[in-house]
Amino acid sequence: TEQVKTIVVIFGATGDLAKRKLFPSIYNLYSKGQLSEKFAVVGIGRRELSQEEFQTNVVKSVGTDNAYTREFSQHFYYHPFDVTNRNSYVDLKGQLVQLDEEYQVEGNRIFYLAMAPEFFGEIAQHLKREGLTNTSGYSRLIIEKPFGHNLPSAQLLNEQISQAFTEDQIYRIDHYLGKEMVQNIEVIRFANAIFEPLWNNRYIANIQITSSEVLGVEDRGGYYEKSGALRDMVQNHMLQMVSLLAMEPPIKLTTDEIRSEKIKVLRAMRPVKETEVHEYFVRGQYSSGEINGERVIGYREENNVSEKSTTETYVAGKILIDNFRWANVPFYIRTGKRMKEKSTKIVVQFKDIPMNLYYNNSEQHLNPNLLVIHIQPMEGITLSLNAKRQGKKIGIAPVKLDYCNNCEDVLNTPEAYEKLLYDCVRGDATNFTHWNEVALSWQFVDPISRIWENDEVTSISTYPAGTMGPDEANVLLAKDDFHWWSLSDSM
Ligand code: BG6
Repeated sequence: TEQVKTIVVIFGATGDLAKRKLFPSIYNLYSKGQLSEKFAVVGIGRRELSQEEFQTNVVKSVGTDNAYTREFSQHFYYHPFDVTNRNSYVDLKGQLVQLDEEYQVEGNRIFYLAMAPEFFGEIAQHLKREGLTNTSGYSRLIIEKPFGHNLPSAQLLNEQISQAFTEDQIYRIDHYLGKEMVQNIEVIRFANAIFEPLWNNRYIANIQITSSEVLGVEDRGGYYEKSGALRDMVQNHMLQMVSLLAMEPPIKLTTDEIRSEKIKVLRAMRPVKETEVHEYFVRGQYSSGEINGERVIGYREENNVSEKSTTETYVAGKILIDNFRWANVPFYIRTGKRMKEKSTKIVVQFKDIPMNLYYNNSEQHLNPNLLVIHIQPMEGITLSLNAKRQGKKIGIAPVKLDYCNNCEDVLNTPEAYEKLLYDCVRGDATNFTHWNEVALSWQFVDPISRIWENDEVTSISTYPAGTMGPDEANVLLAKDDFHWWSLSDSM
C-alpha cells in the first residue's frame, strides 16, 4: 500500500458527518497503514472546544478507547473559527505552516468542507486570498453535497470556488461512488465477456434502480423541506448509477476517459418536457405507518416540516437515453424514505426469448433473465436463469446464480468515505463528480422540480410509511407492460 502524508483541514469538525464518517474513515486508513505517521487533522468549528475535548470526541467516534486510539487522536487539532472572518484564516495559515514542519507532510493539504454549503464559496476564496493554498505540495478541496439546489445556483457556487481552486483540485463527493458495488458496475461490465455483447437495446428490456430507505428525515427536516428526494438522491446518486450502467467502455481506465463517457450519457438523457413531467415522474410523501411493527409519524408531522408540506420523500421516474445503445430502453429509478426496507439494487431485465417452446396450454410462462446487482446492504450479483424443474417432464423454474461480496461483514458504513478520502489524498478523482456531471444532472432534474413546485398542494400522493411507495409508481411501469421486480422475485 502507498503511504500518504497530508494535513486534512475539516470545516465542520463538530458536525455529524465528521463524527459518523470522517473520523472513523481516517482511523481506518491509519490502522491499515495507508496513512503514515505523517498526517495531522485540523478540525474547524464554531463551537469552543479544547484540544483535549476534541481529541476525546475523535476517540469516541472511533469507538474504542485504548492507548492506540488515543495516540491516533494526538494527530488531531481543534481551531474555533469564524469562517467569515479573514483573521481566522491568517491564524490557521500559521498553524498549518507549523504542522507542516512538525509532521513533514511536504506541503500537502486537503480542505474538507463538511458544513452548510452557503459558506463554500466564501471559505474557498479566503483560503486562496490568505495564501493557504499556496504551498510546495498539493492543495485540494473536498466538498459535500448539496452542490447548489438547481443549475443557476450550482453555477454560481462553481464560479466562486473556481476562483480559488482549479477543476482538478476540486473533489466533489458523491458517496455512492465510493460504494464497493457501485465501483463494481464497471468491472462486471468490462471484465466479463458475457454481458457486454448483450448490454444494449437489442437484448435489454429495461433497467430498474431502487434505493429505498427505512429511516425518515430524522433531524434534517429543515434541509429536506428545501431539498426533497429529487434533489437529495436523484440529481446525484441515482443519475451517477445510471451513467455507470449506460456508459460506453472507456478507451482507458483513467479519470478523464471514464468521466468523459459518463458525461456523454448525461448529455444523451432525454430532457423531460415540462408538459410531460407527470407522465415520466411520480412523487410521493410518507404518511404515518408501521415500520418493524412500530408506529411512525408521517412526514408532515416531523420536526421543522410544514403541516402543508408538498416536499416529496419519494420519487419514481422513467429515463430514456437517446443514443444507439439505449434507444427505447427505459431506465426506471425509484427512491424514498420510510419505505419497507433499506436496500439499493439494480435489476437488468433482459428481453424475452424470441419464441417460447415451453408454452403449453398457457401454463408455462417463462421468467425473463435478470441480472441483479446488489449494492447494499447485501453486496453481490444474482443472475436469474430458467432451468428444468427436477423430475418434471416440462416444468421450468427460475434458478439463481448468486455471488455475495460481503456476507461475512454486512455492516461497512464508513467504507465509502474511507475509500474516497484515500483516493483524494492520492490525487485520484475518478470517483468524484466532475463539474460537467453536476451541471448536466441539474439540467435534467430542474424542469421536474419546477413543475412540482408549481403544482397544487393536493397533488402529492402519500404512501404509508413501511410500504414501497405510491401506486402511481406501479402504473408508471405498467404503461410499458413492465413491473417493479420485488426483492423476493429477483434475489
Ligand atoms: C445522502 C442523502 O446523500 O444519502 C440522505 O442526503 C440519504 O438523505 C443518504 O439518507 C443515503 O445514503 P446511503 O449510503 O445510506 O444509501
